[in-house]
Amino acid sequence: MTKTQHSEGTSVSPDRIDLAALPHDFLWGTATAAYQIEGAAAEDGRAPSIWDTFSHTPGKIAGDDNGDVACDHYHRWREDIALMRRLGTNAYRLSVAWPRVLPSGDGAVNPKGLAFYDELVDALLEADITPSVTLYHWDLPQALQDRGGWPERETAEHFAAYASVVAERLGDRVTHWATLNEPSCSAWIGHLEGKMAPGWTDLTAAVRTSYHLLLGHGLAVQAIRAASADARVGIVNNLSTVYAATDRPEDEAAAVRHDGHVNRWWLDPVHGRGFPSDMREVYGVELPEHPGDLETIATPLDWLGLNYYFPAYVEAAPDGPAPYVRSIRRPDVPRTGMDWEIDASGLETLLLRLRDDYGARKIYVTENGSAYPDVVRPDGTIDDPERQEYLITHLAAAASAARKGAPLAGYFAWSLLDNFEWAYGYDKRFGLVHVDYATQLRTIKGTGHRYADIIRRHVGLVRRAA
Ligand code: IFM
Repeated sequence: MTKTQHSEGTSVSPDRIDLAALPHDFLWGTATAAYQIEGAAAEDGRAPSIWDTFSHTPGKIAGDDNGDVACDHYHRWREDIALMRRLGTNAYRLSVAWPRVLPSGDGAVNPKGLAFYDELVDALLEADITPSVTLYHWDLPQALQDRGGWPERETAEHFAAYASVVAERLGDRVTHWATLNEPSCSAWIGHLEGKMAPGWTDLTAAVRTSYHLLLGHGLAVQAIRAASADARVGIVNNLSTVYAATDRPEDEAAAVRHDGHVNRWWLDPVHGRGFPSDMREVYGVELPEHPGDLETIATPLDWLGLNYYFPAYVEAAPDGPAPYVRSIRRPDVPRTGMDWEIDASGLETLLLRLRDDYGARKIYVTENGSAYPDVVRPDGTIDDPERQEYLITHLAAAASAARKGAPLAGYFAWSLLDNFEWAYGYDKRFGLVHVDYATQLRTIKGTGHRYADIIRRHVGLVRRAA
């Protein structure tokens, strides 16, 4: 379909996407996270997470928004599955809220919390949509934070026990599991920069958090597999292509450190390489290592999840804090409504890097998308040409990587719905579906229709090839 057939939207043609390069069983999905959409924060036995605490702390979130109601998905999930069907997606990435299932973080299971996900999974399968379940998308039970949180080793052990509870209940139907979503955000933004829950600015705590997140990941992989023989388990990292702002040696060195901070620190240990020694030196924090931990962290995975949004251009910032790097805002380059630079080629680069540098055998783009200030027209429709262009160019980059041999098995658009965008509150809209928060009315945006077109084209191609 060309622009003339799709009268609105971007002038960038979806013909640029080499759909024939994608596998026939490609997963076409959307992604969400529990705290960002569910609402029902105090319902059916759910206890607070660190994000409830953080978002209810004045001044932490734009507009002092919080996730108390969010998209009210806890009550409207049937309608949301119907939307997925209208988009033609065959997969859905959701996260389970730890404080819904184990309100104290450990100990007693909340049957109503588990029942919610049980019913959701059944309904997804009924709709021919493969559930991809992420166990931790940042919502640590506050009760565990009160006992020290991720800087403490026991949190990793509790995480594995929680993974086991969920896998035992859903593992007869769910095969697609992720342990952590974007652990670098939990560690660095949550414990070093203080801009996400729990809002700390403490390098030692941040490094210990990173270690225990990855230990918890390894323990959880084993727990999931013990509970469900068919489980296919991965981890989801947000990675960036990293460039030095200038060719000054100090900026080149800063780029190496930034790559260590956002990419290698998270990839090397799970691939059996241990924590990068250059970064250990940069942080100068003793890791809370126990014998055997590195082997646990490197438990082999079935797949890698890549969340890609933007490239990073950096310069040296010797006055700290570690890792002594400052991101540069380049003038005159296209940006999304998050002020994030747009560079679709970064997605291709990273997919190929995961294959070449880490030997990845299966990769999913577990998130990719863009926020723009949408305008609802008098007739209730939303045309969003910039988001459509972002989608098409990034899908084209992903398919190009697949053509070059990257083992790409699926793409999950971030996000199904506009939702609670963490410290940005409800201001930033990433959805393929617009949400009117006053009425909870859902409306598929132009990008949602565009995505449906693209999926239909791929399905047609597969049918013709059969
Ligand atoms: O909304 C987030 C999501 O929770 C994690 N990845 C990035 C998205 C956009 O910022």
